[in-house]
Amino acid sequence: MVKRKQTISEIEKMKYYDFMTYMGVPYFHIGGPRSTEELAKLCHINKNSIVLMVGCGNGFSACYLAKKTGCFVVGVDIASLSIENARQRAIEENVEMMTEFIIADAYNLPFREDSFEIIITEFVSQFLDKDMAFTEFIHVLKKGGSLGINEMYRDNIIEPQLKIKIDEAEAIFTEVTGLPFRMNTPDEWKHYFEEAGFSDIRILKCRPFQKIKDITSSITAMGGIVKITGLIFGMLKYMILSEMIRKRFLRLDKGKRILFNNTSTRKHVGYILGIARKPNQ
Ligand SMILES: C[S@@+](CC[C@H](N)C(=O)[O-])C[C@H]1O[C@@H](n2cnc3c(N)ncnc32)[C@H](O)[C@@H]1O
Repeated sequence: MVKRKQTISEIEKMKYYDFMTYMGVPYFHIGGPRSTEELAKLCHINKNSIVLMVGCGNGFSACYLAKKTGCFVVGVDIASLSIENARQRAIEENVEMMTEFIIADAYNLPFREDSFEIIITEFVSQFLDKDMAFTEFIHVLKKGGSLGINEMYRDNIIEPQLKIKIDEAEAIFTEVTGLPFRMNTPDEWKHYFEEAGFSDIRILKCRPFQKIKDITSSITAMGGIVKITGLIFGMLKYMILSEMIRKRFLRLDKGKRILFNNTSTRKHVGYILGIARKPNQ
């Protein structure tokens, strides 16, 4: 991981995900590596595939897929530090010949029409304007190619008092990340695919941390207990040094508790694996 020393005031100015990237958090999608693997299977990724991963962050999933399946992954992200880290990760994991990382905006991808067989987003489309992003994705996808997404959802029907809580958590995530965070319902996700012109749409509702295996594979992916402890201490250090960072973490913790610790609300949220095809004509 590339880590240039930054001053506290520089760190305070970082956007939330840039800060977490700086700290070395390898990935953010709540389904962890198992969900990435599942999505790869649904998209039929194999050693001959060329995959575009939009909003690739630190490159964890891109390197993971290259190693697991032998495919070639082009990762793009708008944040330059993420791309630097992803390139470094690819070298450390010996997959630099199977990956390429480029700074690019999901709304304006630097590729020709019909370039990729598969496009993937994980914890990215939920922050984007779906109409604009999906239109761009279908443009650079080859005919017959697939878009696979691994993003959060909320149920269609939620009791009013729980809906208020979930709305509050969304508002907290929007405030802290600086990105318009909205958990769409599975029907809304389907609608976005349809609106952009996709066919053969499948939306699978999934729940995080259902199996011990999910937890252990996430710990391993995070680099093991020692690395996680180091990460926690690193964050604690910045929480002590900066009131602003402390407040940001406490707000986020409130949002996380609403979504994942509260037994009433957590049954209404999770992640979807969505897969759809660009029609042949
Ligand atoms: C929550 S992180 C997810 C990173 C990674 N996919 C994962 O699952 O860990 C969201 C990522 O999307 C990137 N991003 C946000 N808006 C973007 C845009 N318009 N174009 C490309 N990347 C974007 C951010 O820089 C960040 O790395």
